[in-house]
Amino acid sequence: MKPVKVGICGLGTVGSGTFNVLKRNAEEIARRAGRGIEVAQIAQRRPNPQCNTGSTPITAEVLAVADNPEIDVVVELIGGYTLARELVLRAIANGKHVVTANKALIAVHGNEIFAKAREQGVIVAFEASVAGGIPVIKALREGLAANRINWVAGIINGTGNFILSEMREKGRTFPDVLAEAQALGYAEADPTFDVEGIDAAHKLTILASIAFGIPLQFDKAYTEGITRLTTADVGYAEALGYRIKHLGVARSTDQGIELRVHPTLIPADRLIANVNGVMNAVMVNGDAVGSTLFYGAGAGQEPTASAVVADLVDVVRAMTSDPENRVPHLAFQPDALSDHPVLSIESCESAYYLRIQAKDHPGVLAQVASILSARGINIESIMQKEAEEHDGLVPMILLTHRVTERHMVEAITALEALDDVVGDVVRIRVEHLN
Ligand code: HSE
Repeated sequence: MKPVKVGICGLGTVGSGTFNVLKRNAEEIARRAGRGIEVAQIAQRRPNPQCNTGSTPITAEVLAVADNPEIDVVVELIGGYTLARELVLRAIANGKHVVTANKALIAVHGNEIFAKAREQGVIVAFEASVAGGIPVIKALREGLAANRINWVAGIINGTGNFILSEMREKGRTFPDVLAEAQALGYAEADPTFDVEGIDAAHKLTILASIAFGIPLQFDKAYTEGITRLTTADVGYAEALGYRIKHLGVARSTDQGIELRVHPTLIPADRLIANVNGVMNAVMVNGDAVGSTLFYGAGAGQEPTASAVVADLVDVVRAMTSDPENRVPHLAFQPDALSDHPVLSIESCESAYYLRIQAKDHPGVLAQVASILSARGINIESIMQKEAEEHDGLVPMILLTHRVTERHMVEAITALEALDDVVGDVVRIRVEHLN
């Protein structure tokens, strides 16, 4: 059988990794796919001296790959929203299958892209868009298809996790670790996407759609970054038996779907709390299976290429099948997607860590307890430290039981209005993941 012809668009970190893996493992891949997979064209805007592309035809015109009649599958690895969207829609219109690692594109334009792909009877595969090399989309979409998914929680940004791990373990500074993550090719072109939780929210949006059978709704995801975390809170969290991770949480409740990315305290004895460096991990809790954990490299050249090439093998196996009988893009049949709403952050529920800087006066603790109890907020534990030498203020650290965000915001406003409370109350959400 003739090999399937692939056009790789973008020869950066992931593009060159994909080219190299396809070449190195060509025989093994053909044994799996049933046909060879040949890179018949590459589009690159800048030469990549790290990648020996041999005699493969190269063009600087990305859209030429979508128009090339020789090409069966377009691999979109250029990133971004605009040109990537144009390329993917053009490839689909020309009847080509698409493989992409572009989480921003899928999270923001996925509904449109999948609708066009269905009209044309082509596949758009996007395993590499979430958690790099971890086949979590495959697991959720196929392996866990028996379940009602209760929640998904994940460390799904390698750069952010690398920064938090290095800061905690080695006391390194934020800019220093970020610069290393950029040099290693982990960070996004705009690293604020990593540290402000936007990249993780793109990935969480995709996971939530596949888990709960809802359309992609990135605009409703809540994001909070890690840039304001202090070493003091990292230390207090440790003392209380927790680790702080930048977690994406998607939870199905009777009222709607929670979709949120924020720093989170996790009990230190949970496996996921011990996922460090650039590694990612995704927990999925289903009604039949219980909790599962998927772990692996969430970014990087060949781990991400591993997912791209696995998608290529899937596409090659399925390209001759009846489009109606393929695995749906978002796991659920398109006419069976639900309109269960995505909740605003005010309606989401979690436990909380609070740090209050108080004047060292009698009765402050009683006032704090009274404000919380008036709003039905149950205190789980309290830790009060010695007064700080430089300002005489007493750090008071509380852990609460689960409460709706709206009630917690009201309580914090009341706490900050107390005469004996100085500055803002620090609040970090807590998830026990049990
Ligand atoms: N910037 C992303 C990360 C790359 O650090 O996880 C993989 O999506």
